[in-house]
Amino acid sequence: MQVVHTRADWHEYWLRSIKSNKSIGLVPTMGALHEGHLDLVRKAKEESDVVVVSIFVNPTQFNNQEDFENYPNTLESDLDKLSNENVDFVFVPDTKTIYPEKPVININFGELERVLEGTFRPGHFNGVGIVVSKLFNLIRPHKAFFGQKDLQQTGIIKQLVKDLSMEVDLIIVPTRREEDGLAMSSRNMRLSTQERNQSLILINSLIKAKQELLAGKQWFEVQNQIKCDFEEKPLASLEYFELIHPERFTRYSKFDENQKSSICVAAYLGKIRLIDNLPIIP
Ligand code: PAF
Repeated sequence: MQVVHTRADWHEYWLRSIKSNKSIGLVPTMGALHEGHLDLVRKAKEESDVVVVSIFVNPTQFNNQEDFENYPNTLESDLDKLSNENVDFVFVPDTKTIYPEKPVININFGELERVLEGTFRPGHFNGVGIVVSKLFNLIRPHKAFFGQKDLQQTGIIKQLVKDLSMEVDLIIVPTRREEDGLAMSSRNMRLSTQERNQSLILINSLIKAKQELLAGKQWFEVQNQIKCDFEEKPLASLEYFELIHPERFTRYSKFDENQKSSICVAAYLGKIRLIDNLPIIP
């Protein structure tokens, strides 16, 4: 496994791969790798000849400085995990490589970011859009792999690729969960024991809401009940619990079993912000 830090380092390997007709798969990450990331890596290994994992904690997608500063950095153990998966390259750029200068452009994803994460994390998707574009330009992958847990992020990246005619196939990999159902996230390692226990409210409310909707209960009643459930958990604070179209990201006020729908949730457990989602009608 080669660890590369700059565009120049990678260029040589890229040229070699292209000359020998090898397909390149990219798994963009911010490090602090868990089994969810490794699922992306395994999928990339199945679907590409050469697998590159990037590790870069992207400052421009954090709307909260404290969250950025506390983002876990576990580079050494990340590299061990990737080496065990027989990854070919790990791209670990420094900030100057990605941002030699502060970007001037601003990517506006319109309707796609007027709900959910877009509302609660202003500027977040601009930062994601910029860094993903840069990673695609630097690595030039044929395929890129992203997790379903960040459902709205997958939507904006699909739009980015479409609007800018990028030649990258996007592969979305299902959410990996802990045995008790909590969606894997690099932020989970910062939860205290009590916060970890109460964090199950995210997946439990998604499952409960899905069952109730499918049993015929009105969405507004379901949503109100879930808000009350959150109020009973002293360490949990709900940001949103919404029924949406999983590609357009428009909010529904009623459930219709003939329309594609997913429920998305975001909540704080103490100071740690977690998100999750569950398809109702895929
Ligand atoms: O999902 C993530 O880890 C990040 O948003 C990504 C796609 C690596 C961009 O920084």
